[in-house]
Amino acid sequence: MLVGTQDILGKAEKNKYAVAAFNVYNLEGVIAVINAAEDTEISVILQIHPPILNKWGISLSSLCLEAAARSKIDIAVHFDHADSEKIIDQVINLGIKSIMVDGSTMEYQDNVKFTQKGTEKIHHINGFVEAELGRLSGTEDGLTVPERDARMTNPDQLIDFYLKTKIDALAVCVGNVHGKYLHNPNIDFLRLERIRNNISIPLVMHGASGLSEDIVRRSINIGISKFNINTELRNGYIKSISNLDNLDILDIMDKSIMEMTKIAIGKIRLFSSI
Ligand code: 13P
Repeated sequence: MLVGTQDILGKAEKNKYAVAAFNVYNLEGVIAVINAAEDTEISVILQIHPPILNKWGISLSSLCLEAAARSKIDIAVHFDHADSEKIIDQVINLGIKSIMVDGSTMEYQDNVKFTQKGTEKIHHINGFVEAELGRLSGTEDGLTVPERDARMTNPDQLIDFYLKTKIDALAVCVGNVHGKYLHNPNIDFLRLERIRNNISIPLVMHGASGLSEDIVRRSINIGISKFNINTELRNGYIKSISNLDNLDILDIMDKSIMEMTKIAIGKIRLFSSI
């Protein structure tokens, strides 16, 4: 059944586990994620993000909403990294009510204004808003320690950010990075604790591909209730179609669905069993 992100995160927070949010690109990805939720009987979030919006956003969002509505398990559909008003309007028009308003590349005051405006729009349709304070790197390579710290979520500034924007969930920057971790992830757990102490809304960790079980467990214990996964699922798809042995199209689709379902089940179990 299609439900709101707030419903899924609320249940996870109450039961002290975290929800897996998967970025999907195609039919196979959507089916794999729903299969994994049904297999584990644990709710998940389907996510779409900007590069797809102008290609086949209309079709993919309809597919996600429809597949969620037909599922035996509660599923939410969320738009990840909406970084302009135009995108927010487009996404609302597509019928998606859970949106990340992403002003993280802007200067602080601009991020506040952009997030305020986006939040008002999304709350107007009774939607759910995730926003980011700090700036997630694609990689930490080449950053000095002060540069790295300056990009992280500032727990004190966060109070001002929250009071001005009234967001529903916060994406934290605590050493997590999008894509492949080139070195062992270096998560600033003390900062995460200070963030948790200063704000009580759900906390989200982007860049969750490649995080160890220990990092996941510690993060959940401090207060992370949503992990975003893109890279691992996407790589699963690419791996599954790299050796096709003259397979026909339906077999190829099955192969990639099976591979991605296996990865999604692993993540759902990891995030919910701690
Ligand atoms: P990964 O690509 O590291 O899995 O991160 C996904 C993400 O954070 C999407 O918002």
